[in-house]
Amino acid sequence: MTTATIEPAIRVQGVKKSFKDLNVLRGVDFDVQPGTIFALLGSNGAGKTTLVRILSTLLKADGGTATVSGFDVAAQPGQVREAISLTGQFAAVDEVLTGRENLVLIAQLRHLKNPGAVADELLARFSLTEAGSRKAGTYSGGMRRRLDIAMSLIGDPSIIFLDEPTTGLDPQARIEVWDTVKQLAQGGTTVLLTTQYLDEAEQLADRIAILHKGTIIQNGTLAELKKLLPAGGEPVLVEKEPSLEDVFLALVGEPAETDAAEAATTRKASR
Ligand SMILES: Nc1ncnc2c1ncn2[C@@H]1O[C@H](COP(=O)(O)OP(=O)(O)OP(=O)(O)O)[C@@H](O)[C@H]1O
Ligand SMILES: [Mg+2]
Repeated sequence: MTTATIEPAIRVQGVKKSFKDLNVLRGVDFDVQPGTIFALLGSNGAGKTTLVRILSTLLKADGGTATVSGFDVAAQPGQVREAISLTGQFAAVDEVLTGRENLVLIAQLRHLKNPGAVADELLARFSLTEAGSRKAGTYSGGMRRRLDIAMSLIGDPSIIFLDEPTTGLDPQARIEVWDTVKQLAQGGTTVLLTTQYLDEAEQLADRIAILHKGTIIQNGTLAELKKLLPAGGEPVLVEKEPSLEDVFLALVGEPAETDAAEAATTRKASR
């Protein structure tokens, strides 16, 4: 089968959403292929969480269509919910329960046959076996995030939404979460994550889309995005390959800058 014939895990076409006069999404389009990691980049308030809420059926779009696992988010929300899990921007862990109890609780809510075994398997997979009997309130930020992601995997969703999975984590904890996300994709899960961290997208994503002023202004692989910044010009500027940060700031960047390449050039030159 060629790539063209595989149905996308997520298809977003012309999605619009306004809050009163605020046009947050003005026609968003992208596809996510199954088993890949897709990063949605955008500044604060760009509409990342709004889009994730639409795709996970928590919020209705004003226009456009979106399908998740082949199901229309507006017309078939039940089927969509069965196919996905959502790890929100703020951890959903119950601090009074132990890590294991948190997992068992979700497995019970999902009517799984052997909640204890499900919990133990996930604790092992996320290196939380020893911590499993401790209250989640005593966990570090990274452990809590891992538990949160583990909880969202109960029931084997084929598509997982991670809204800013590493915000507020220290570098070590971020790497732990990154490893977790990479393992998920290797196991065939489709991951859509939002992030403001450009290095996170560089590390993880097969494709990166930049949401800016209500639309996707760029969508490509890291290599494709880097090509947007011509290395040409004065030889001194060719020294270093542009980072995703250079590309992002050139595209979204300071309003005073008129030309994307020029903006990046100015930044590089000022280092
Ligand atoms: N329920 C709502 N009512 C009114 N305005 C809203 C609502 N939800 C979001 N907004 C506004 O829509 C815009 C986009 O918000 P959203 O949370 O989607 O951004 P974001 O890209 O996730 O930002 P962040 O990086 O800060 O999480 C913001 O201006 C926000 O204030
Ligand atoms: Mg958000």
